[in-house]
Amino acid sequence: MSTPATTPTWRLLEPPRADRLDAPDAWAYHGIAAVEREVALADLGHDDFPPRAVDILVGDLHPERARRYRWVAVEGDDGAPRVVGHGVLLLPVTDNRHLAVVRIAVLPSHRRQGIGSAIADRLRRVALTEGRTTVFAEVEFAAEPPADAPDALAPAEGAGHVSADLPGMRFARRAGLRLEIVSRRSVLDTPLPDGVVDGFVAEAAAHAGDAYRVHTWQDPAPQEWVAQLAGLEQKLSEDEPNGGLALEVERWDGERIREEEAKRAERGKSGLVAVAEHVATGTLAGMTLLVFAHDRPELTDQDSTVVLPEHRGHRLGMLLKAVNLREHARLRPGTRRISTWNNETNAPMLAINTALGFRPAGGSAELQATLADVVPLSRT
Ligand SMILES: CC(C)(COP(=O)(O)OP(=O)(O)OC[C@H]1O[C@@H](n2cnc3c(N)ncnc32)[C@H](O)[C@@H]1OP(=O)(O)O)[C@@H](O)C(=O)NCCC(=O)NCCS
Repeated sequence: MSTPATTPTWRLLEPPRADRLDAPDAWAYHGIAAVEREVALADLGHDDFPPRAVDILVGDLHPERARRYRWVAVEGDDGAPRVVGHGVLLLPVTDNRHLAVVRIAVLPSHRRQGIGSAIADRLRRVALTEGRTTVFAEVEFAAEPPADAPDALAPAEGAGHVSADLPGMRFARRAGLRLEIVSRRSVLDTPLPDGVVDGFVAEAAAHAGDAYRVHTWQDPAPQEWVAQLAGLEQKLSEDEPNGGLALEVERWDGERIREEEAKRAERGKSGLVAVAEHVATGTLAGMTLLVFAHDRPELTDQDSTVVLPEHRGHRLGMLLKAVNLREHARLRPGTRRISTWNNETNAPMLAINTALGFRPAGGSAELQATLADVVPLSRT
């Protein structure tokens, strides 16, 4: 940590919790969202992804699957201080109980004053007290550097590169975290020209044949599919290539599907789902999920997609995505960008996305360390 030459203008505190955004105690939710937005605009050049105050609040109101500890760096008045940096430690509760997932962000105007270090050290102590053993962190970037750039860093397993000079990379590596994965963000610019999606649907449907029937819905899922949908989400967590990240299979059941739908609704979001039913057995062979916020009509995220191993090779991945995109275009004609993230090693999924017209648009570096190896950063 650079020792400030003068007395720091900031101080750290554990922010109060609130149950509504218009409560006086909700200042931290608004302040954290403002920091994340400013950091995204400065570091990525857009604010498509930073969590909004409601996203942060809803996460805190639902500790059933993951508990969150927060610290904020603030300046000014005690009643409604200004947040200049924040950190959150996310602790999964029902699976992956060895993990402590860290996020720290500091306003560009307040960097290199030791704020990130001070927050990291507090979160490290909480993770130790909680008995966690593995730390995850993510650093987002606007563009992948060319493989031969002097600062290009490649993960031990797999493809992709990230600049080792990014502030987040310098910071996380100094704390002892290693790069495990580079995830590519891809963007599909919409609307697609007339007939393009129909063409993908027709081509994939011709391969899949009559053995499969596609169903779509907007949240909530029909009760008859909920248990199988949970099975597909669990399978995704088992099969998704995650390099050397120490991830356990997530435990999914119908209740968890309902919880996720309820949280989306509380955040003002909806999921649009397409599933492929194997007609002969009535089983779901695969699913895909688009998620959007109702008050941001220009943006949508392409979330989970999975096809069960015994049903692969029939173009179901393409069929599901194309049918869901067609449905999405009907429901949200004003959308301009659909974003998705894939591990750079996930060739089958990247191939489908590229064929659909998704273009690379930056991404994220996934870092990991054994908690015992994480180095305290503050010198004080
Ligand atoms: C990463 C981040 C949180 C660091 O916050 P910060 O308050 O500037 O961090 P500190 O002042 O405590 O820096 C600690 C050390 O990290 C390293 N570091 C941080 N930023 C750096 C930079 N721009 N260049 C080189 N080293 C840097 C240095 O070793 C620094 O120590 P020093 O200043 O004594 O050289 C901030 O840059 C940020 O918000 N980045 C965007 C979000 C992100 O990537 N988060 C990281 C993953 S959770």
